[in-house]
Amino acid sequence: MTYQAHFKVWRGDKDGGRLVDYEVEVNEGEVVLDIIHRLQATAAPDLAVRWNCKAGKCGSCSAEVNGRPRLMCMTRMSVFDQAEIVTVTPMRAFPVVRDLVTDVSYNYATARAIPAFVPPPGLKPSEYRMRQEDVDRVQEFRKCIECFLCQNTCHVVRDHEENKAVFAGPRFLMRVAELDMHPLDAAAEAGIDRKRAAQEQHGLGYCNITKCCTEVCPEHIKITDNALIPLKERVVDRSYDPLVWLGDKIRRRRGDTERH
Ligand code: SF4
Ligand code: SF4
Ligand code: FES
Repeated sequence: MTYQAHFKVWRGDKDGGRLVDYEVEVNEGEVVLDIIHRLQATAAPDLAVRWNCKAGKCGSCSAEVNGRPRLMCMTRMSVFDQAEIVTVTPMRAFPVVRDLVTDVSYNYATARAIPAFVPPPGLKPSEYRMRQEDVDRVQEFRKCIECFLCQNTCHVVRDHEENKAVFAGPRFLMRVAELDMHPLDAAAEAGIDRKRAAQEQHGLGYCNITKCCTEVCPEHIKITDNALIPLKERVVDRSYDPLVWLGDKIRRRRGDTERH
């Protein structure tokens, strides 16, 4: 079954652009990325698009299809009515490089600001032991393909560029949660306070658990329920724990004394 579809594709660069109309052939079983490739092979040879695997695993082909953030390679044409206009635009939360390609370097800079897993002192990797439930939790978060659709969707940065400086976004708050819940992470012994950083450096308080990030995750990771809400609970527990509060106060006093 072959038919002609009506596509509108955003063409332009950082200085501006517009939606361009295309009539393009669609064959049975094709996905949106196939159609974009057909346009490159026919009417729009200079159309810029980023992709790698065409299997939903590299996270490169993120865009907005009819306004919804999606992987183009995992969006079947059969979900649209044949008469429906299919509009493809670049992710809105990141600056456009050209056409459907955006500059996602905010995400890489944010990733670098999160201290890595700290191995437990005195234990060799072959001696690490974890309970199955801890392994399962980490496994869910590790399914992330870094497509940044959740980052693109979160209203905290989608319409507020200025918040990028103070908000890590769902993907990276999930990373903080993953490390903070990791039973073998020895960050605290190394002087790294992940909960405090979540709140004060990565902007956890900006998240009002709307779950929009979870809705668009192609890996079906329960970002809000399994990472963000537990992280918020852990931060609150820490704030209200009188021993932690006292320890912090003493540490801060010592710091002040040492500085004087
Ligand atoms: S749940 Fe939090 S991180 Fe996710 S979209 Fe809503 S505000 Fe953003
Ligand atoms: S958490 Fe999901 S939506 Fe966010 S970057 Fe990872 S795979 Fe993509
Ligand atoms: S091309 Fe790799 S996820 Fe779509």
